[in-house]
Amino acid sequence: MSARLQHRIAVVTGAARGIGRSIAERLAAEGARVACLDIRADLLEPAVGEMRKGGLDAHAYLVDVGKRDEVHAAMQRIEADLGDPVSILVNNALWVRYQAIEDIDEATLDRIFAVGLKGYIWPTQAAAVQMKRHGSGAVINISSQAALVAFEKAIGYCSLKAAVGGFTRAAAMDLGPHGIRVNAIAPGMIETPASLGKFDQASLLARARVIPSRRMGQPSEIASVVAFLASDEASYINGAMLTADGGATIAGT
Ligand SMILES: NC(=O)c1ccc[n+]([C@@H]2O[C@H](COP(=O)([O-])OP(=O)(O)OC[C@H]3O[C@@H](n4cnc5c(N)ncnc54)[C@H](O)[C@@H]3O)[C@@H](O)[C@H]2O)c1
Repeated sequence: MSARLQHRIAVVTGAARGIGRSIAERLAAEGARVACLDIRADLLEPAVGEMRKGGLDAHAYLVDVGKRDEVHAAMQRIEADLGDPVSILVNNALWVRYQAIEDIDEATLDRIFAVGLKGYIWPTQAAAVQMKRHGSGAVINISSQAALVAFEKAIGYCSLKAAVGGFTRAAAMDLGPHGIRVNAIAPGMIETPASLGKFDQASLLARARVIPSRRMGQPSEIASVVAFLASDEASYINGAMLTADGGATIAGT
């Protein structure tokens, strides 16, 4: 593995499992010191423990990303603990329930947006302070194919992930002049505990069959896109949303 992120301080939210964990592992494997944020202590401590056992420079922070003060305090603690300003931030945390327009209720919608939108905005606001001091930075927001195409009974999720696209573009406008790039990734169907738990095997296979690449993606295939966007190889990519979906979006599947 290359060392293109050597000496960088990275923060990954929702890093206790699934795509977030894979992203944290990949950034650390490329030389970054990685702060892993999650709300689930039961998952976060063992995940980070395994990363460290594997020689990765990973650190656990129990944080609710939807709470502004908590996030700002954590970001300051990370800089103090790791000794340098944060220069990579990956917003990935998610809390969701899938409901149709007829059924969505206020408490559910509030929580979806507290974690998945405010929970992307607060870490970006807090990290930007340090990135400005560092002189550059990369923010990568994990959106979804659901930002670009519609799914049934997913009012909260489709609205959220489209909003992440708008947030990405607006933040790129504000932070670009400071040398900070803000981009989004729109993954398609990725094999994680969350996605495998949502569908039965037969419907997963049926969905995979109509994707041009004829399969679901792996978390590592999102992590590699994140590592690229975080690196200087992506130095002129700003405000973009890259699909990583085996062609599902262009095929309308
Ligand atoms: N799995 C897929 O097929 C897929 C497809 C497209 C996009 N995505 C996106 O990728 C990201 C990760 O997906 P996943 O499948 O790994 O999901 P996941 O549910 O396994 O992971 C989400 C993580 O966020 C954490 N989290 C929840 N609330 C939090 C809070 N308030 N503060 C901090 N952490 C919190 C959870 O504990 C969990 O570890 C999400 O943004 C999701 O929308 C996933």
